[in-house]
Amino acid sequence: MAASTSMQVMSVKPPFQSQPQNNIKKPVIIRCCSSSSSTTAAKKSYNITLLPGDGIGPEVISVAKNVLNLAGSIEGIEFKFNEKLMGGAALDATGVPLPEETLTAAKQSDAVLLGAIGGYKWDKNEKHLKPETGLLQLREGLEVFANLRPASVLPQLVDASTLKKEVAEGVDLMVVRELTGGIYFGKPRGFGTNENGEEIGFNTEVYAAYEIDRIARIAFETARKRSGKLCSVDKANVLEASMFWRKRVMAIAEEYPDVELSHMYVDNAAMQLVRNPKQFDTIVTNNIFGDILSDEASMITGSIGMLPSASLGASGPGLFEPIHGSAPDIAGQDKANPLATILSAAMLLKYGLGEVKVAERIELAVLDTLNRGFRTGDIYSAGNKLVGCKEIGEEVLKSVDTKTPASV
Ligand code: IPM
Ligand code: MG
Repeated sequence: MAASTSMQVMSVKPPFQSQPQNNIKKPVIIRCCSSSSSTTAAKKSYNITLLPGDGIGPEVISVAKNVLNLAGSIEGIEFKFNEKLMGGAALDATGVPLPEETLTAAKQSDAVLLGAIGGYKWDKNEKHLKPETGLLQLREGLEVFANLRPASVLPQLVDASTLKKEVAEGVDLMVVRELTGGIYFGKPRGFGTNENGEEIGFNTEVYAAYEIDRIARIAFETARKRSGKLCSVDKANVLEASMFWRKRVMAIAEEYPDVELSHMYVDNAAMQLVRNPKQFDTIVTNNIFGDILSDEASMITGSIGMLPSASLGASGPGLFEPIHGSAPDIAGQDKANPLATILSAAMLLKYGLGEVKVAERIELAVLDTLNRGFRTGDIYSAGNKLVGCKEIGEEVLKSVDTKTPASV
């Protein structure tokens, strides 16, 4: 959270979305504040699309909604929530993982807060009928190409890390993951037969210059607002797409002489993350490496249940979601940790709506709740109070009410 409280990405609308080949040097890059909120002298109002999804999704979203409502009301902001179906829940009700109605509502809102999608029930579905396909369609539909995944080890939770205390203590890094390109979306892809008549499956890792340039700029801007160190992770010793990635990142680096850029192969980066994670500040990488490394980075902090994420595009609403999955094994048992979703709501306020003060009130409330010793099972250690999803949510609400951000 140190990462998420200390960083802001500014609200400059970029030109490259409409002119992807444009190579002109530009400042940044992703928008922050929604323009469609209605403001009156007394009250601001925002439309938020809620996508509870599957598994523990509905439980954690319901807690985050209460937190948003209370924090907003204290700061004079009203949220109008529009709840829509997504993932397995949408498959069961409508036959598709991302109904048109859901995407339309998401596009028309000021920001989108997602719980989690997926579950055993739909695991064997054909690809176009998997909950995960709905999530990829949502990211593509909202054109949210920049995925920010902070991973900070909180002093309160350092003992929850599986790494030695001296290795984990003080880790505060940000993974900037490219989210709408690479092997997740590249063509050709599919199943087929090779020249020996054997069945094959294949995908394509492909990046165009504009896709690398725009995520690189986000990453340089992010690094600049943090410690000024950026590590670009690739597999340029083997893959052409990675060689090109490195070439473009180096070209964009010329716009940011104040940021110290390094490059690392992904296998080494995976190793270095557990050997000495404090060497990293901001990491930028492609879609698939970012998927893997952000899960690894999250475990340094002790629990994936603590980590939020923001997915942003050049314009339009951002998508905010905890990075944990739907955890079907504990769904419906009031055991889930809602803090990552609450912190995702704080990222929504900060990066999506530019409402920094409410965001900080929420972040402070989460820290205060931890300071008061409340823990869900995933972050529990002896001497603390083990509580469920609802109860920790109630405690966060108490802290939202009593803790005021010192400055903003
Ligand atoms: C994530 C998830 C998704 C991804 C899945 C659910 C499609 O693992 O957000 O990291 O691979 O991007
Ligand atoms: Mg993942």
